[in-house]
Amino acid sequence: MVLLMSARQGVAEPLPDSEGRGVGDPLIEVVGVAKHFGGVQALKDISVSIRSGSVHALVGENGAGKSTLGRVLAGAVRPNHGPVLIGGPPARHHPPRDAIRAGVALIAQELELVPGLTVAQNIMLGHEPRTRGLVSRAKLREQASQIIADAGFDLAADLPVGELKVAERQQVEILRAIARNARVIIMDEPTTALTVTEVEKLGAIIRNVVRDGVAVVYVSHNLKDVLALADTITVMRNGSIVKTTPAHGETEHSLVEAILGRATDVVFPPQKRPSQDAPVVLSVTGLGHSRAHDRGITLELRRGEILGVAGLLGSGRSTLARMLFQAERPGSGEVILDGTPIGHSPRKAFNAGLALLPEDRRELGLIMGRSITENLTLPHLGQLSRAGLVDRGRTAQMAEQLMTDLGVSAPSPRVAVDTLSGGNQQKVLFGKCLVRHPKVLILDEPTRGVDVGAKLNIYSLIQRLAQEGAGIIVISSEIEEVLGLAHRVLVMRGGEVVADLPNERLELSTVMQAAFGLETREPHAQPDQAQVIA
Ligand SMILES: Nc1ncnc2c1ncn2[C@@H]1O[C@H](COP(=O)(O)OP(=O)(O)OP(=O)(O)O)[C@@H](O)[C@H]1O
Ligand SMILES: [Mg+2]
Repeated sequence: MVLLMSARQGVAEPLPDSEGRGVGDPLIEVVGVAKHFGGVQALKDISVSIRSGSVHALVGENGAGKSTLGRVLAGAVRPNHGPVLIGGPPARHHPPRDAIRAGVALIAQELELVPGLTVAQNIMLGHEPRTRGLVSRAKLREQASQIIADAGFDLAADLPVGELKVAERQQVEILRAIARNARVIIMDEPTTALTVTEVEKLGAIIRNVVRDGVAVVYVSHNLKDVLALADTITVMRNGSIVKTTPAHGETEHSLVEAILGRATDVVFPPQKRPSQDAPVVLSVTGLGHSRAHDRGITLELRRGEILGVAGLLGSGRSTLARMLFQAERPGSGEVILDGTPIGHSPRKAFNAGLALLPEDRRELGLIMGRSITENLTLPHLGQLSRAGLVDRGRTAQMAEQLMTDLGVSAPSPRVAVDTLSGGNQQKVLFGKCLVRHPKVLILDEPTRGVDVGAKLNIYSLIQRLAQEGAGIIVISSEIEEVLGLAHRVLVMRGGEVVADLPNERLELSTVMQAAFGLETREPHAQPDQAQVIA
C-alpha cells in the first residue's frame, strides 16, 4: 500500500512509539477536521493519525463525537472542513466504497447485517468466492467456517443472522471485516453485548490482526478494556480532542478525569434494603418453554427489591426477561403481578404495570424520525390526554423532567431521536419505561453504551425507584454492576436459575463460579464443559 503522506508536510512524522514496539505508518489521517449537523458542532478541529499495527482507542462522554469521528475515518461522513488522508492524496469526496477499497471497515454502533442471509453469507458479503462467475456456495461456506474457527467463535455458519442474539451478530460483523482483509478496522463499541469471555476472545482477535499490521480504532466506554488493549488513547469532549496519549501512561482515574473534565470515582451509591416483610409484587412458578426436561424458573420479587441476574451469554437471562414481559410466549408458568395474572401479551403486561427495557434497542425501541418527547410519550397518550386532546404542556414538562433525570444531552426535547448519539438514545429508551411509574421494571443491560457520568445517574435512579416501592430486575453482563446494585443475585446457566444469592458481601468469584458451573455439590464432580461454553 502506497502512503502518500507527503501531500501535507509534517503529517507523516512518526509519533514517538509508546512501548518501543513497532507502531507503524499512518494509514488514515485527519487534519483539522470539523463536522456540524445543523447547529450541532459534532467535531471541531480534530487531528489524529491512525497507525498500522496499533490499537487506537477513542473515549469520551455520550455525544462527545466518537462515532462521528469513526464515520469520518471510514468515509461514511464527509467533514465540512479538513482533509482525510487515506493512504493517498487528500480525499475530499470519498464515499464508503472508496474507503473499503482503501481497506477501511467500519463496524457501526448499530449493526448493519442482512437478517435474511446466513452467518456465512453475511461474513463473505461483497466478496463471495466464485467459480466461473457464479457464487460457489460450498466454497463460501468453507471459507466462512474457517474464519469462524480461526476466531474461536461459536457460530453456526448456516443460521440466518436474523435469528442471532445481539452478541452473536456483533461477532459476525467483526468476522466480516476480517474477511475483507481490512487494513483499518473501526469498531464502535464492539463489546457492549459481549460477556467477559467474549471480550477476552475479541481482545485476542484484535491483537492478532494488529500483529499483521492492521490498525484498529476502538471506541468504548469500558475503560478497563481500553487500557488493556490500546496503544494510543484519544480522549474527546464536546467534539474536541482533550488529549491523545500513549495508553501506558494512563489509568482509569486519569481517563475519567479527562473525559468529564473533573475528578470522580465510579462508586455505587450505598444500598438501602427493602424490609423483610415488604409484599411480593411479582411472582412466577415454573416459567419456561414447557419442554419435558425443563423445570422452569420460579421466583419472587418484593416491593423495593433490586434483583440482579447474572450469567454467561446464552444462559437465558434475556429470555427470562422477555418471558416475564410476555414478549416471548412462555409455555408454562403464570406471571402474577400484585396478586393478579398479567395476561399473555406485552401490552397486557405493560398495562398491568410491568415495563421492560429490552436488550436490543432497535427491536422494541425507538421511532427514529420522531422527537424525544414523542418517543417518550406516544405509548402513554391515553394517560396524557384530557377529553381526547393531548395535554402538550404536561407532555413537554414530563419529557424535560426525564431528560434531566437521565442526563440526556440534546439541544431540545423536540429533536428527532436519530440525531442523538448512541448513548443518548439508550437513555431515552430508559425514560420510555419510566413514564408510567411501573410496579416492576425489568432492565436488560441498562447502561450499555452509556458513559461514566450517566451511568452514575442511572444507578441512583434505579435505587430511587426501588425506594419508591418499585420491584426491579437488573440483567447485566458487568458483574460489578449487578453486585453494586442488587440486594439479591440470581445466577443463570443453561436456561435455569442455578444460584440465588443474597448480596451480603457477595464475592465476584462466587457469582462467576456459579455462572460457569464450577460450584459442584459432589466433591469429585467434573465441571460441565458444554455449560462453560454456553
Ligand atoms: N445525523 C445527525 N444529525 C444531527 N446530529 C447528529 C447526527 N449524528 C450525530 N449528531 C450529533 O453529533 C454529536 C456527536 O455524536 P456522536 O454520535 O459522534 O457521539 P458519541 O461520542 O459517539 O456518543 P455515544 O457515546 O453516545 O455513542 C451529538 O451531539 C449528536 O447528537
Ligand atoms: Mg457513539
